[in-house]
Amino acid sequence: MPAQTVATAFQRHFGYTAPLLVRAPGRVNLIGEHTDYNLGYVLPAAIDKEIYFAVGLNSGSEIRLVSHDLNDCCTIAVDQLHRTDTQWANYLLGVAAQLQKRGVVLAGFDCVFGGNVPVGAGMSSSAAVECGLAFALDQLLGTRLDKMTLAHVAQKAEHEYAGVMCGLMDQFASLFGRPSQVVRLDCRSLDYEYFPFDTDACRIVLCNSGVKHSLASSEYNKRREECERGVHLLQQHHPEVKSLRDATLAQLEQHRAEFDEVTYRRCRYVVEENQRVLDACAALQRHDLAGFGQLMHASHAGLRDDYEVSCLELDVLEEAARGLPGVYGARMMGGGFGGCTINLVAPEQVEPFIREVGRAYQQRFGRELETYQTSIVNGVSETRAEALPSVNHPAPLPDNC
Ligand code: GLA
Repeated sequence: MPAQTVATAFQRHFGYTAPLLVRAPGRVNLIGEHTDYNLGYVLPAAIDKEIYFAVGLNSGSEIRLVSHDLNDCCTIAVDQLHRTDTQWANYLLGVAAQLQKRGVVLAGFDCVFGGNVPVGAGMSSSAAVECGLAFALDQLLGTRLDKMTLAHVAQKAEHEYAGVMCGLMDQFASLFGRPSQVVRLDCRSLDYEYFPFDTDACRIVLCNSGVKHSLASSEYNKRREECERGVHLLQQHHPEVKSLRDATLAQLEQHRAEFDEVTYRRCRYVVEENQRVLDACAALQRHDLAGFGQLMHASHAGLRDDYEVSCLELDVLEEAARGLPGVYGARMMGGGFGGCTINLVAPEQVEPFIREVGRAYQQRFGRELETYQTSIVNGVSETRAEALPSVNHPAPLPDNC
């Protein structure tokens, strides 16, 4: 059990017990991709792929981090926080730095973390890492920041320490998830609304393209800039347009001649995708899974052709899923350039679905397809492990510490 594992490792490494134990989930996004940083709508949910943390204040002035899964560690003085060459540690150090920036007086702390959110698969392992630590430090330091502030702290950590200018969706989903519900966030007003999603009636199956989205960060930031260029162009005529959320297709058409082709297509995708989220929520409310699924396929087409963040493997997976018995909808999920497709499948068809899509994938790429069936769970929370026997002699930290 992962909470137990990190608790045991914490005691082994640091020699004291009773750390705070925290569970932080990854997320899926049903629809609304690349809309968050355009201040539009998203529809994510927290899932049962999670990162577990054991965190304790160490009464010194150092931050000592251990990645249980990588068997690696990183130590840094609280008053000398900076980005390091250790990628995984930057997500955590970024959170500590953001808290400091907000005036929180940090103390030395120890942290062991590990879990089962696949890295680079589009399930936001990075947001889970950031949000879990933000939550833990908030508890331990008694800062009592509200969850939306913690989401912003985590998002800023990603901007400044990981260099990805992400929107708020992933951090929001990890913190605000609720069991069996998806949540629509309005990224402009930050209002949100939960919608029931019955995974007994409709399963969420993720198919891993096997492509890690390593190119994603630079391409991701480029998409953001292209959207900003579009807003700038529209603003010349419509000063009320502050983000693509405020733009309409009619406005885009009206000024098309002033747009270069790429910027135009990026903007068209975002404006259409925003509307799809609203339509998808309406479909959910009428229990129209088929209608919901059609919107997912349309979302994929837009991401592939207009926004150009898909890849061959994702396209093959989406196409293989389309039209199979019991498949309501499929599309690539997350930032793109790899990661997973998300598929909504009738429970009795899940097995044949996995078989069929797996066969198509194997035939095309000569590799076995990895799939995950996920359920929708609660957002970041404190968790427990069984009482641990006390140890007198802590284990040495891994070699490179
Ligand atoms: C990544 C980012 C999110 C969001 C998605 C695309 O997951 O972290 O903020 O922009 O890509 O929807």
